[in-house]
Amino acid sequence: MTAKKTATAYVSAGRKKRYTQGSVNPVIQRASSLVFDSVEEKKRATIDRAKGALFYGRRGTLTHFAFQDAMTELEGGAGCALYPCGTAAIANAILSFVSAGDHILVTENAYEPTQGFCQHVLKKMGVATRWFNPLAGADIASLIQPNTKVVFLESPGSITMEVHDIPAIVQAVRRVNPEIVIMIDNTWAAGVLFKALAFDIDISIQSITKYIIGHSDGMMGSAVANQRCWDQLREHSYLMGQMADADTAYMASRGLRTLGVRLKQHQESSIRIARWLSARPEVERVNHPALPECKGHAFWQRDFSGCSGLFSFVLKEKLTRPQLAHYLDNFAHFSMAYSWGGFESLILANQPEELAALRPASGVDFTGTLVRLHIGLEDVDDLLEDLEAGFQRIAQAR
Ligand SMILES: Cc1ncc(COP(=O)(O)O)c(C=O)c1O
Repeated sequence: MTAKKTATAYVSAGRKKRYTQGSVNPVIQRASSLVFDSVEEKKRATIDRAKGALFYGRRGTLTHFAFQDAMTELEGGAGCALYPCGTAAIANAILSFVSAGDHILVTENAYEPTQGFCQHVLKKMGVATRWFNPLAGADIASLIQPNTKVVFLESPGSITMEVHDIPAIVQAVRRVNPEIVIMIDNTWAAGVLFKALAFDIDISIQSITKYIIGHSDGMMGSAVANQRCWDQLREHSYLMGQMADADTAYMASRGLRTLGVRLKQHQESSIRIARWLSARPEVERVNHPALPECKGHAFWQRDFSGCSGLFSFVLKEKLTRPQLAHYLDNFAHFSMAYSWGGFESLILANQPEELAALRPASGVDFTGTLVRLHIGLEDVDDLLEDLEAGFQRIAQAR
């Protein structure tokens, strides 16, 4: 059989007969207990409990296995662990590979709760975090210590959207210490627009909450690991009680079937809007990986197969509090919300000093207000009209 093309894999991944039992989609098997008919069957299930046997609800049911198989295939890993949300996936993936006295390197543009987890939970456990500039490239080698166990990437990074030079980072880390576990928060790329494991990253983590569920109505996280890290990630996550419910795993499998067409539309619409913004006199810079003005654009162009709908732009001026409220409160199609990746468009804003506080290694190099957009599946002309009216509101409130 020839290798499947990606669009085909979105449709077919995980749809084994064992999981679908004659229907198109996997069955929803809700279970805490799984019942054994004989001592022999119980013994077999115990032996094969990490290899797809029905053993105990926390190890998964047919519904989970269908989604886990699909993600393992799409991301090219040895296995996929599930978590109740993306933040749990991040925390538990890191916890699975560190001990007291260890040190980890984390990109300073990581998602804010990732930073908070390092600053509060890891610190309390005696694990030290060193932040690195997302554009560090091979220079990351100088930050590695003998006790560095994990390097944590996120690309493009949260809010400011810098794209890492991943091959340079990975080669530098491997050269100094091949044992270090390299992980990435791969949510922006939905785990598919950037094939992390093919770049020798060990673990690709994502918030399934975002593009895969895709409808802003469920929460789940995943971590797909390579052969080297899979057993430890799976068993440690299991011991920390990590699992998702069967209904959400079903929703995630269903989301996969339309992921390809949704991502294409997010890409097309977000690029059109980013280019429009880039030509506006009010805008200093557009942080959209597909635009040359985005930091790390050349790395995105080289390493990613596409883009999703989340990006940001920086205004030339810093809006006052009343200007910002008047701007944000009156959009017709952009709602204010933190989670993204659904079918709907979203808007949020940050002042430069708020972001500088979240960039402990290098601060920020802009003075205007930053606006983050998620471009949903609405008609782009409606969204442009809405954004145009927003700029008029800023001018009126001056
Ligand atoms: C980049 C990134 N990673 C992880 C998460 C966390 O996902 P969840 O909300 O599923 O915990 C988010 C949520 O906004 C995110 O933006």
